[in-house]
Amino acid sequence: MNALGADATYAALVREQARIVVAENAMKWGALRPSAVGFNFDQADALVAFAEANRMKIRGHNLAWHQNNPKWLEATATKENARELLVTHIETVAGRYAGRMHSWDVVNEAIHVEDGRADGLRNSLWLRLVGEDYIELAFKTAREADPQALLTYNDYGIEAETREGEQKREAAIEMLRRMVARRVPVDAVGVQSHIAAASGGNKAAASQYGAGLMRFIAAVRELGLQVFVTEMDVNDRALAADEPVRDAAVAAAYRQYLELVLGDPAVKAVLTWGITDRYTWLGHEAGRADGKAERPLLFDAEGKAKAAFFAMREAFDQRGTIRPTG
Ligand code: XIL
Repeated sequence: MNALGADATYAALVREQARIVVAENAMKWGALRPSAVGFNFDQADALVAFAEANRMKIRGHNLAWHQNNPKWLEATATKENARELLVTHIETVAGRYAGRMHSWDVVNEAIHVEDGRADGLRNSLWLRLVGEDYIELAFKTAREADPQALLTYNDYGIEAETREGEQKREAAIEMLRRMVARRVPVDAVGVQSHIAAASGGNKAAASQYGAGLMRFIAAVRELGLQVFVTEMDVNDRALAADEPVRDAAVAAAYRQYLELVLGDPAVKAVLTWGITDRYTWLGHEAGRADGKAERPLLFDAEGKAKAAFFAMREAFDQRGTIRPTG
């Protein structure tokens, strides 16, 4: 939101390229709830106004998460008041934009198999204080507050063709099956898709994401739910410094990944997490070992389309010719 206000080149690029937008932070608890009393909707309202002025769809992100919870919440939430805090938040936030959102990430990243529970649920603030039915409570409250938004369960790490990835997929599909069986109003699954470019180029990339992810997407489809790629970017940490080589490997990863997932008709939207390399969130956390800026997005720091942009465009163009799996 800061870049959208301060950088005219960036704002023009978003206007030109995007048909659906999501705020990186402006709709999280930390932004909306600076104190225990009242809400601050300045940035969230600005995003909605920008999107509507440009006829873009809007994703809301997110209503319940283990991160970005304000200090006052962590300090004052108890088993006695947590339900009420969560319900009031969802009623107020989803209610404010009712009828105007494409979808809401109602619950974000609720699975963390490493926490050791049999159901794979993450030992988050909401789980500890509300109990495991916080997920159900959040979705039901969101449906009442905004009956039109597609209510989404969003998570990371369910992409990878690894043991950890498979465990996470299993826990996620079990949770979704329980939700559907109990008529919890869930409409979609967000596959965040913070993926990595492999150092060996196309061939190595092809083994990182594949059959496990496609089985998961098919299982989600069979539950009657849609799938959104919600936060795609391709980190280039495994690659040497040379920029053309990095850009080619990142583009190959976009192409391979998108051609793969777009092969299933349940996948209805693709969003990246950021537009240009200038404002990527990557590198703020564990970046490249050589300290160089990462190049994970479709446009470079000047807003120029990179190979990744053309790879995505071709994957979209090709979709009609790919046969659905399963
Ligand atoms: C990230 C933002 O991009 C950063 O600006 C912030 O410091 C931390 O959160 N998964 C999510 C997003 O669901 O909310 C995260 O966004 C990235 C990972």
